[in-house]
Amino acid sequence: MLTEVVAHRGASADLAEHTLAAYQLALEQGATGLECDVRLTRDGELVCVHDRRVDRTSTGRGVVSVMTLSELDELRWGDEDKPGVLRLESLLELLTPGVRLFVETKHPVRYGGLVEAKLVALLARHSLARPANKEESPIVVMSFSQQAVRRVQRHAPQLPTVMLSGTRLAPRIGDYAGPSIERLRADPTYVERAGRPVYCWTVDEPEDVLLCKRLGVRFVATNKPAATLEVLRGT
Ligand code: G3P
Ligand code: CA
Repeated sequence: MLTEVVAHRGASADLAEHTLAAYQLALEQGATGLECDVRLTRDGELVCVHDRRVDRTSTGRGVVSVMTLSELDELRWGDEDKPGVLRLESLLELLTPGVRLFVETKHPVRYGGLVEAKLVALLARHSLARPANKEESPIVVMSFSQQAVRRVQRHAPQLPTVMLSGTRLAPRIGDYAGPSIERLRADPTYVERAGRPVYCWTVDEPEDVLLCKRLGVRFVATNKPAATLEVLRGT
């Protein structure tokens, strides 16, 4: 099985995570997948921020869900020239045939299902919520929450989903199992027992890339798309 490279938060080892520049670079490096985390602002906009707070990745301080889009837009993110938070909608514009966007919804409890509902509505506006073929869908939705995965399945049954799971065995829902690399290192039989294709995160070390390839992992999420592609091409 072909192992595809997903740029985790963009080419985030080279440029600041969740910035447009990091995603553009990932595509230039040859990644065929992009991964992002999404949260809702106080006024209901979907933005790409990993942490609950903006402190680590921007010039500001505060909690994303209690800030408005315009408040987030006043901050500088990473090394971007201009202030402005990355919207999920801007990433949709980067999609070209053969490129997939893996959207991870955070946080199922805080947002009470609103983030999945808003996500599906946005995808529907872009005609991306009902792909003809799940395997070729440009959008894949992921979560560590079973509740969130089930919500996406309910709102948009044609959208493929990844059940993320850290070091535990992923519950048997979703189209893909999403273990961490630590899990696969500890338990290489995981892939054959998963009963569906595997998306593994975060795979930055060459020996881990090779392990994933050997085990038949379908997607590897990495902060280093260029180096990961080089390892895969060399095998
Ligand atoms: O791709 C899944 C992975 O991103 C989950 O962990 O904390 O980096 O969102 P985290
Ligand atoms: Ca993530």
